[in-house]
Amino acid sequence: MLRGKKIGIIGVGNMGEAILRGLHQKGMAKGIVVTDIRPDRQVYIKKTYGVEVVSDNRQLSSQVQIVILAIKPQDIKGVLQEISPALDSSKLIISIVAGVSLGTISSILDKDLRLVRAMPNIAALVLESATALSQGGEASAEDMEMAQGIFGALGRTVVLPEVLMDAVTGMSGSGPAYVCLFIEALADGGVRMGLPRKAALELAIQTVLGTARLLSEGGEHPAYLKDRVASPGGTTIAGIASLEARGFRGAVMEAVASATQRSKELAKMKG
Ligand SMILES: NC(=O)c1ccc[n+]([C@@H]2O[C@H](COP(=O)([O-])OP(=O)(O)OC[C@H]3O[C@@H](n4cnc5c(N)ncnc54)[C@H](OP(=O)(O)O)[C@@H]3O)[C@@H](O)[C@H]2O)c1
Repeated sequence: MLRGKKIGIIGVGNMGEAILRGLHQKGMAKGIVVTDIRPDRQVYIKKTYGVEVVSDNRQLSSQVQIVILAIKPQDIKGVLQEISPALDSSKLIISIVAGVSLGTISSILDKDLRLVRAMPNIAALVLESATALSQGGEASAEDMEMAQGIFGALGRTVVLPEVLMDAVTGMSGSGPAYVCLFIEALADGGVRMGLPRKAALELAIQTVLGTARLLSEGGEHPAYLKDRVASPGGTTIAGIASLEARGFRGAVMEAVASATQRSKELAKMKG
């Protein structure tokens, strides 16, 4: 469904480049056009991916069918005002800008267009993003398929109503930081018990990666896998009891709630 569609990316920083890299690796980068305000990024992107780089956002918007907004939240108003004359209902606009609602985008553009909001996470850099997509009022089922085609190249996607985007931000958006904390703590635990630091960190990272792959590829529920690992009277159940005594699961759930709340507050300020 993306065949023959020209995609434009405005802003090729961390996330814009991740999207480009994902599409490039999947052989879907033909016809991509990008812009970035930074001349050094323009040169680097052209050299690395061989895609067309233009310096004018409006020119890009007029020559593509799908516009992906990958600039920082503070830049979105200016960019939307700049490209608005080139946008009409023949184009799909996808925004990955955190905390900026589809309603805010529509009101800046002052017209109803086909909009999709995406919330990827930093693992997009290794094409393992967990991305949530929300359909704007004018966007069609085919538009959602196209968005899934693009973000599916960067990892996994789920479609959710926009009202849940703050929860997504607080869970899978902020989630990599929680997992980093866990990995660091796991390695520290190993060091505490006498493991060399480098080996402890390597083992901790691989433990999380391997467990995630088991769940992702095996399709098992985490509780089932946990039960398989925790033998009666064994080491693992002793460790689990210790985590539970310190409220591990409650602490993680509270982290998601706090981050969701913060996302709502920040969105209100930006709106
Ligand atoms: N990073 C994440 O984990 C993550 C996750 C989910 C969503 N997001 C969202 O993704 C968006 C991009 O994040 P990022 O981390 O990729 O930011 P970034 O690395 O700063 O990338 C944005 C790029 O756009 C350029 N730019 C600024 N103004 C522009 C303009 N008028 N026209 C064209 N390019 C322009 C920036 O140049 P300058 O550096 O000179 O400003 C920069 O190269 C943000 O809105 C963020 O909320 C990020």
